[in-house]
Amino acid sequence: MTLEAETAYVTGGANGIGKALVGLLAAKGMKVCVADLNISGAKQWASALNQTHANQNISATMVDVSSWDSQAAAFEDAVKSLGRIDYVFAVAGVAERRALPNASGTTTGPFMKPDFTVYDICGTGMMYTIWLGVQQFRRQKTLSPYGFKGKIICVSSVTGIYSFPGSPVYSAAKHAVVGFVRSYGKVVAQENITLNAVCPGIVETNISSPEFYAEAKSRGCLVKMEHMMNGFEMFMGAESMSGECAEVVAKYGARVVEFPAPSKESAIGRDFVIEKHRHLND
Ligand SMILES: NC(=O)c1ccc[n+]([C@@H]2O[C@H](COP(=O)([O-])OP(=O)(O)OC[C@H]3O[C@@H](n4cnc5c(N)ncnc54)[C@H](O)[C@@H]3O)[C@@H](O)[C@H]2O)c1
Repeated sequence: MTLEAETAYVTGGANGIGKALVGLLAAKGMKVCVADLNISGAKQWASALNQTHANQNISATMVDVSSWDSQAAAFEDAVKSLGRIDYVFAVAGVAERRALPNASGTTTGPFMKPDFTVYDICGTGMMYTIWLGVQQFRRQKTLSPYGFKGKIICVSSVTGIYSFPGSPVYSAAKHAVVGFVRSYGKVVAQENITLNAVCPGIVETNISSPEFYAEAKSRGCLVKMEHMMNGFEMFMGAESMSGECAEVVAKYGARVVEFPAPSKESAIGRDFVIEKHRHLND
């Protein structure tokens, strides 16, 4: 795949999956803007790549994806440094944390507001990034070398496809991304924009501890980073599919998920709502 002329904006590119992705894009000769809360990590990675590859152009900008203002400012920065943007990769995320004290901590006293920071970052934050990408692509007058206004690829998770009682808020956020991608991805496809998600199982990054990964490996459920990268590549270049999710698991690597078809009644209702809501996407 030749992607020399292309450019990318990557959130969460200072560590883990995002960092590996930025490395992959740089190796393909792409111009990349790395946006991360960890600005020193993002700058270090950009500088390391700029030294490794001749004529490399990797920049870094600070973003807190849970804040719209921060995302808009970082994206403006990226537009300044990249000019045209071909790819937006929404990768930044955090692991589950306790939303409320456990059962015994909430039996008396005033009702407590749950801590939805994980949802703000992994759900709302990811959808902010998607909307920024869509707005930018609509402003771009020329098409990419592959004939697209632009492509958006998000990182959801297998917790966005299946039930994960160990991570309910994280799973809700990742389901939100999957639902949004599957629905809105079909809308923006009509504008020559693709929107897809990669949904990995357990990948060794900074999001969990070395002990956690050692045990995952021994149980055969650790996903190789190269398979994760294959998941991104499935949606890049000339590929026109949109509104799809690729599950990435240890044994099979990356493959597009076949979700159950709606019941006959739900399909009739869905088609009716599409017709009634057409004006929302005009
Ligand atoms: N590692 C896994 O097993 C796994 C599995 C499924 C999905 N994911 C998803 O993959 C994505 C990347 O995670 P990772 O495993 O590489 O973790 P990581 O911790 O190694 O990297 C996450 C990156 O996101 C950045 N980040 C965190 N909060 C941010 C914020 N508010 N604003 C901007 N940047 C922020 C961090 O600084 C870091 O650079 C996440 O969306 C995560 O939910 C990871």
